[in-house]
Amino acid sequence: MSTTIATTATTTTKTSDLPSLSLIAAHSHISGLGLDETTLLPKESHQGMVGQLQARKAMGVILKMVQAGKIAGRGVLVAGPPSTGKTAIAMGLAQSLGPEVPFTALAASEVFSLELSKTESLTQAFRKSIGVRIREETEMIEGEVVEIQIDRSITGGHKQGKLTIKTTDMETIYELGQKMIEGLTKEKVLAGDVISIDKASGKISKLGKSFTRARDYDAMGPETKFVQCPEGELQKRKEVVHTVSLHEIDVINSRQQGFLALFSGDTGEIRQEVRDQINTKVAEWKEEGKAEIVPGVLFIDEVHMLDIECFSFINRALEDDFAPIVIMATNRGYSRTRGTNYKSPHGLPMDLLDRSIIIHTSSYSADEIRTILSIRAQEEEVELTGDALALLTKIGQETSLRYASNLISVSQQIAMKKRNASVELQDIKRAYMLFLDSDRSVQYLQENSSQYIDDSGNVTFGSEVKTEQPPAEQPAVEQPPVEDDKMETD
Ligand SMILES: Nc1ncnc2c1ncn2[C@@H]1O[C@H](COP(=O)(O)OP(=O)(O)O)[C@@H](O)[C@H]1O
Ligand SMILES: [Mg+2]
Repeated sequence: MSTTIATTATTTTKTSDLPSLSLIAAHSHISGLGLDETTLLPKESHQGMVGQLQARKAMGVILKMVQAGKIAGRGVLVAGPPSTGKTAIAMGLAQSLGPEVPFTALAASEVFSLELSKTESLTQAFRKSIGVRIREETEMIEGEVVEIQIDRSITGGHKQGKLTIKTTDMETIYELGQKMIEGLTKEKVLAGDVISIDKASGKISKLGKSFTRARDYDAMGPETKFVQCPEGELQKRKEVVHTVSLHEIDVINSRQQGFLALFSGDTGEIRQEVRDQINTKVAEWKEEGKAEIVPGVLFIDEVHMLDIECFSFINRALEDDFAPIVIMATNRGYSRTRGTNYKSPHGLPMDLLDRSIIIHTSSYSADEIRTILSIRAQEEEVELTGDALALLTKIGQETSLRYASNLISVSQQIAMKKRNASVELQDIKRAYMLFLDSDRSVQYLQENSSQYIDDSGNVTFGSEVKTEQPPAEQPAVEQPPVEDDKMETD
C-alpha cells in the first residue's frame, strides 16, 4: 500500500453495520424528524414523529449544519427523562440525513463489550462517521445490446460468448468471459437493453430499454424505463462519485484485514501507521480537488455509561481535522462520572459539557402519548378499540410511554387467544395485571424483600420477616445511580 489507496468496496456508509437490531424495531415507525421541508420547522405529527417540538426544532438546526457539511467537531447532548424520545430523535435525524452522509450509532456500553480497546472502538466509530466523497474518472462502455450469444461447452461448466452492442454511430462485438456472462445473467440483460459496463471493475448496470424497441414491449407495464440509444463512441470516460467512510478506507488498506473484513464486521485493531498514511493521502486528494470530506454524525446513546478515559478521548477527537458531529444522549441528572469520584451534570465531565450544546427533551402530554401509541399500534399491525387506546394512554401517562408501548403486543397476544381481531379494554387490563411496570415492581419488591437475595447474598425463604415498610404510594421510580465500582479497579 505504498502509492495507491484502494477506496472501492461497498459504498453503504449508513447504519448497515449496526449490531443493535432492537434499537431499530423500537423506532421503526420513525422515518425522519418530521420537519417541514422548506422551513425545517417541526410539524405536530409527521414521519412518525409526534410533539417534542422544541427538541426536534433544535435537531433540525443540527441537520442543517450537517447537510451544509461545513461544521465538524461539535458535541450535542440530548438530555431528558427516560422514554422521552431521545433515541427516537437521533434515529429521525439519521433518516433525514440521506444516504450520502454517514451516520453511526453506538450504545456506549458497546465500547466495553467489543474485543477491542476502548480507544480503538471509539476511533473506529469516529472514522465510520467521516465520509470521503471521491471523484474518479473511469472508462465505461455504454450502448444498446443488439445480441447476446452464449455458448456452453459440452460438459456444461465452461461458458463463453459474444456481446454485440451499439450506439447510434457504431456497433462492436465483445468476447465474453465467464465473469461477464454471470454479470449479464444476474442483471437479466436482454437484447434492446441499454447498459453500461465499468471497464475497471466489470460492473454492469442496466440503464433502461431502448426507445427503438418500445413497440416490442407494450406489455411491460409502466415501471419499464425507456432511454435513448447512446450516441457517439461506445467507450466513454465518465466521472463517478462515490462516498466511503474513512474507516472503510482504513480496513481495505490494512494488510491483515483486507476488504472482506468489511462484510464480516470483524475488523480487529487497525495500526496507527495505516491511519496516518490514509489521513495524509486523503488530505492530498482534498488539496488536489479529487475528494471532499463529508463530516457525518456519530450518535452515542446512553453516554453516561462511558468512563473518564473515553470522555477525554472524545474531547481530543473533536479537535481532530477529520471530526464528525457527535450527538450524545443521556437520562442522567447530576451524577457521578464513571471512573472518577466527582459528580457533574448529566454525569459528563465539565470540559466535555463545555464543548457541547444541550438539547432537552421533556415529558409528553396525554394527547401526544395517545398519538404515539396509536402510531405504534399501526406499526405493529394491532387494532385497538377506542376504550383500549384511552386506557393505554392513561397507563402511558402514569407509568411510562415505553411500558405502555410494550403492552400493545402483549395485549394483542391476549386478544388473539380469544380469537378477537381487535384489542379491547379487557385485554389491556389483563396485560396490565400480568406485567408489572417499574413502579409496581418496586412496590412488590418492598413487600416481598425477604424472599430475594440481597446485596450481601442473604435470603430468607418462607418466613416472612416483618419489617417497617415504606408507604406504598411513594413512587420509587427514580433509578438508583448505577454502581460501577468495577470500573475503578482496572
Ligand atoms: N416524539 C415521538 N414521536 C414518536 N415516537 C416517539 C416519540 N418519542 C418517543 N417515541 C417512541 O417511544 C419509545 C421510547 O422513546 P425513546 O426514544 O426510546 O426514549 P429515550 O431514548 O428518551 O429513553 C420509542 O419506541 C420511541 O420510538
Ligand atoms: Mg434511549
